Amino acid sequence: MKVLVTGGAGFIGSHTVERLLAQGAEVGILDNFNDYYAPDIKRHNISAVQDRITLVEGDLRDPEVVERAFAEGKYDAVIHLAARAGVRPSIEQPELYIDTNIKGTFYLLEACKRHGVKKFVFASSSSVYGVNKKVPFAEEDPILQTISLCDDQDGRRTDVLQLQHSVWHTLCVLALLHRLWPAPAS
Ligand SMILES: NC(=O)c1ccc[n+]([C@@H]2O[C@H](COP(=O)([O-])OP(=O)(O)OC[C@H]3O[C@@H](n4cnc5c(N)ncnc54)[C@H](O)[C@@H]3O)[C@@H](O)[C@H]2O)c1
Repeated sequence: MKVLVTGGAGFIGSHTVERLLAQGAEVGILDNFNDYYAPDIKRHNISAVQDRITLVEGDLRDPEVVERAFAEGKYDAVIHLAARAGVRPSIEQPELYIDTNIKGTFYLLEACKRHGVKKFVFASSSSVYGVNKKVPFAEEDPILQTISLCDDQDGRRTDVLQLQHSVWHTLCVLALLHRLWPAPAS
């Protein structure tokens, strides 16, 4: 199986890549090593596997970069972990967050359509349920009132995924993650 992991140099992405390689998958990474936190940490994250992966260093916000990543091989699945997180920076730089989290996801889904990739795993956040009173959250709960732009965007990204699923029959698996690691700049 051949898998493209966006954000594959990040915290969750690099562990995902290691696990995929251990299971015998071929792995490509698309990551721009941005400075949301030290890029050296991200380079270190993948240093042990760099000879076993195909790395496209570039920005998800550029459709040509996304196309270049898909041109590296016929992928069976995409695991989409590249994103901007953090509440305060999402308020300070909303355009960056919208471009990365919503438009970037859209470019990826478009590329999946063009290249016939039918499996798309996407990391959302339990924070999308925002100030819902009911706990614990359930997947069926409505996303009524998020409390930050980045959480709201995870809700919007879910909408884009549902559209992709219903129109183009892509199997979209949504992982709702809850605080695995404190994001450095939030
Ligand atoms: N870590 C958590 O506790 C947690 C909780 C809930 C949801 N999540 C979600 O899981 C996903 C991964 O989180 P993480 O903790 O590994 O974050 P991370 O910041 O460590 O990793 C994200 C990676 O994406 C890359 N990236 C960001 N923007 C990019 C762009 N425009 N083009 C290419 N690459 C880009 C970054 O360089 C980074 O390596 C994110 O979607 C995040 O919102 C994480």
